[in-house]
Amino acid sequence: MTENTALIQVLGAVAYGELKAYDGAKDEAEAAETDEARRWHRQVAAEELRHHKGFVKRLEALGADPDRAMRPYRLPLDRYHGRQSTDAIEGAVFDYLGEGIADDLLQWLRTVVDPETAAFVDTVIEDEVEHEAAATRQLRDLLDRTPNGRLRAARAASTMHLHMLWSGRAGATPLSAFIRLGRTRGLLAAIIGGQARRVRAIL
Ligand SMILES: [Fe+2]
Ligand SMILES: [Fe+2]
Repeated sequence: MTENTALIQVLGAVAYGELKAYDGAKDEAEAAETDEARRWHRQVAAEELRHHKGFVKRLEALGADPDRAMRPYRLPLDRYHGRQSTDAIEGAVFDYLGEGIADDLLQWLRTVVDPETAAFVDTVIEDEVEHEAAATRQLRDLLDRTPNGRLRAARAASTMHLHMLWSGRAGATPLSAFIRLGRTRGLLAAIIGGQARRVRAIL
């Protein structure tokens, strides 16, 4: 596999992930209980759509067919995002750790791509850092006012990691695409370290 093929696979995974993030933020805007929350989720949705379109453009610039590049990731990512939870803590932990993984993947991605893609990824990271901060604040607030919140959050974190593995049990996973791009050790260290650090931060 050439490096270009591996990069196309990663960009396909990220582009589809951004589309799912857009769908999720749109749903959250619709379900929001306050104007302020609605405005925030609408802003996030607009940013995720910009990310999606930007990655689609990078795919086109590499001569790839964006739909084909995204296709292998549809099923695992649909499955991952299709999980419905009525538990507020679980939802907040999934958001928090999900935004965190996205941040770590993007930070790593910017070190292995061409300069033009890296410049675009930097603008995405700028938005995502804010998304992660908001998810962190929301989870902290919730934990402060929920009895046994931290214990339940720790359990939700394990559930999230298992669900992520389960979602990728068949078909391609974004992580497998990243691994094919090489420099696996740095990537896995960033993800595992990042998740462990984030779990510690909320307990
Ligand atoms: Fe995004
Ligand atoms: Fe985001």
